Amino acid sequence: MQTGPPSIELKVALGDRSYPILIGRGLLGDPGPLEPCLRRQVLVVTNSTVGPLYLQSLRAALGQCQVEIVTLPDGEQFKTLATMERIISALLEARFDRGCTLLALGGGVVGDITGFAAACYQRGVDYIQVPTTLLAQVDSSVGGKTAVNHALGKNMIGAFHQPRLVLADTDTLSTLPDRELRAGIAEIIKYGLIRDAGFFGWLEANVHALLERDPQALAHAIERSCRNKAEVVAADEREAGQRALLNLGHTFGHAIETGLGYGSWLHGEAVAAGMCLAADLSARLGWLSGADAERTIRLVDYAGLPTRLPSQLGPEQMLALMAVDKKVQEGRIRLVLLENIGHAAVTSQYDPGALKATLAHRRGAAAALA
Ligand SMILES: NC(=O)c1ccc[n+]([C@@H]2O[C@H](COP(=O)([O-])OP(=O)(O)OC[C@H]3O[C@@H](n4cnc5c(N)ncnc54)[C@H](O)[C@@H]3O)[C@@H](O)[C@H]2O)c1
Ligand SMILES: [Zn+2]
Repeated sequence: MQTGPPSIELKVALGDRSYPILIGRGLLGDPGPLEPCLRRQVLVVTNSTVGPLYLQSLRAALGQCQVEIVTLPDGEQFKTLATMERIISALLEARFDRGCTLLALGGGVVGDITGFAAACYQRGVDYIQVPTTLLAQVDSSVGGKTAVNHALGKNMIGAFHQPRLVLADTDTLSTLPDRELRAGIAEIIKYGLIRDAGFFGWLEANVHALLERDPQALAHAIERSCRNKAEVVAADEREAGQRALLNLGHTFGHAIETGLGYGSWLHGEAVAAGMCLAADLSARLGWLSGADAERTIRLVDYAGLPTRLPSQLGPEQMLALMAVDKKVQEGRIRLVLLENIGHAAVTSQYDPGALKATLAHRRGAAAALA
């Protein structure tokens, strides 16, 4: 265990379902934060990559509980109902009751599946998020959106179910591949774009420090991102209003993920390209200045993320894929567009011709990223 600066504690304020987000170094092996949230029976869900790295430290922090472990195969393509059912089977086989706790140790895929299993098992049991990717530490572990994919659409089967605790041990990022680190930066940039212009400016100056894994820069970016996410979720848990802004780039991104096949582009990569498309469209419609659209695309590019659609996804295919996304209302594709850096809005009132022009003009990224 590394020692370092004290951990940061934030809160997601949701009345009696409020919960803390702890961010810091060496949290994984510390029984302190986990203890108040654990019951007699704990099922740890991890995957074949993360388990061998971190299960042992975590296990030591679980004390005297009855601990069962499910190790899933690694990959977005396994974020399915069939995988979720494996977790349910393990719970039943071990005779876990409604007082049990699930614990997700891994990235957003493990977190989303585990959260959904917790939402469904005996109509809902507690769970804890222990995110180990940058993307999961800044986004997916906070806010209670849980889901699995369907072949026809991303995250199409899911539930809102808040965790009891989010424990983000930043030491785990040391083993994260560079490509996954960059994918997490995409969601970090998103917060700057939709509601935090000051943070966007900080990112323009510090994105290289993040890419170099400077611990202070990473800790700042994780804290600021979680603070933004916690505020949005506390104000609009069920996405009746402002939470939808967190979907900036995602309707394009989900279409890319589904169109290329899950696991081909990473979620963060698809969202990065999607944010550039949203900026391009916003500028075409006269919402966003050309200069701010360029700043957006430049920052995404500096972060080593794709700024264009994969070349094999044409405008008609993209439109068809986008129409499956949850953000469609009464047949119109609702999009998050940018008014300024730091201000976004949801709309379905835009010229469809401009959308087609964006889809046609921002093509050209290689299908295989590395
Ligand atoms: N629920 C939400 O609000 C929300 C928000 C954003 C994204 N998501 C979902 O999150 C998923 C993407 O999450 P992700 O980017 O974390 O992907 P992921 O879970 O697939 O993890 C990425 C890769 O990194 C590996 N890994 C994880 N931690 C590691 C570590 N510390 N060291 C080495 N390798 C490690 C994983 O095994 C995997 O191979 C998508 O399914 C997306 O839809 C959900
Ligand atoms: Zn996302």
